[in-house]
Amino acid sequence: MKTYRIAVIPGDGTGPEVVAEGIKVLETAAKKFNFALNFTNYPLGGEHYKKTGEIISDDTLTSLARFDAMYLGAIGHPDVKPGILEKGILLRLRFHFDQYINLRPVRLYEGVYTPLKDKGPKDIDFVVVRENTEGLYAGAGGVLKFGTPDEVAIQESINTRKGVERCIRYAFDYCRKRNQRKKLTLCGKTNVLTFAFDLWDRTFKEVAKEYPDIQTDYAHVDAICMWMVKNPEWFDVIVTDNMFGDIITDLGAMIQGGMGIAAGGNINPHGLSMFEPIGGSAPKYTGKGVINPIAAISAGQLMLETLGQDEAAALIEKAVIKVLRENIKDVAAGKMGYSTKEVGDLVAGLVEKGV
Ligand code: IPM
Ligand code: MN
Repeated sequence: MKTYRIAVIPGDGTGPEVVAEGIKVLETAAKKFNFALNFTNYPLGGEHYKKTGEIISDDTLTSLARFDAMYLGAIGHPDVKPGILEKGILLRLRFHFDQYINLRPVRLYEGVYTPLKDKGPKDIDFVVVRENTEGLYAGAGGVLKFGTPDEVAIQESINTRKGVERCIRYAFDYCRKRNQRKKLTLCGKTNVLTFAFDLWDRTFKEVAKEYPDIQTDYAHVDAICMWMVKNPEWFDVIVTDNMFGDIITDLGAMIQGGMGIAAGGNINPHGLSMFEPIGGSAPKYTGKGVINPIAAISAGQLMLETLGQDEAAALIEKAVIKVLRENIKDVAAGKMGYSTKEVGDLVAGLVEKGV
């Protein structure tokens, strides 16, 4: 039997609660489709850091390398200064394992509330391919005369031809495989960021020649925000840099129903990938059993897709769709009409039945 080794990082806040439901659903799917998942827990996060002073050790990074995938809950702790855990764990893992794609589907499922008037599931169904290892996130820059009136803070966006090209190629391939409207939109800012996005634009046009079946389009990031609200149906796949991708996918999460729904994959197509609900650790809901586990369950679905278990992934999505349509009243934490565990049970139950 095919066995996948999965490293689990439940992390902080509500992370462990949603990850538990995700694992329940994944195990049910594995049983049904005759493969095995071997989960190993890594207690990284705020509590671990407070107890041991360790963020993530080199040994941990080495030991993670032998897994087939990573499944992460949430990182961020109210007692730890912002940035330490996010950069020290989440970004460290993305960079260390060269997970150069952040794949974020934006899909409104039936029965889920969107704040967009007159838009429905047919209109909101696209995928953002966010570059995940470069740009403003590369950490280039520095400070001079810190804390004085003459302080200078510089934060540079790093864009390499190799990094940009592999991201754009992934987006074209993904768009072809997705096989829907076959339209890829580059999201940039060529009118102001004339160095970085000139590189993106030229690379995009060059690579596009190899994909005559894909229609291409370009929009500035500010306009993308406008169209995502006004005409989300225009988008099929959007490719963009790290910072813009971060911002537009929070907007995307809102139009698809909220953070309780939005899932993402940090993907190294030739290596180790990591899957996570894109929302945070939600400290105020921690331990209450009211947080929505759907985003974590869908992150598990993305993980199975990436591992090549397409049928199992498709069944999980079917189950999620049914539970959202027929059970969950409101996807927001505390308003679902079910507990976190009950939602996990509902999805797992449907997966077991084959929906
Ligand atoms: C995300 C998050 C992270 C990011 C933070 C927590 C570092 O906002 O996954 O989108 O900016 O990438
Ligand atoms: Mn973000």
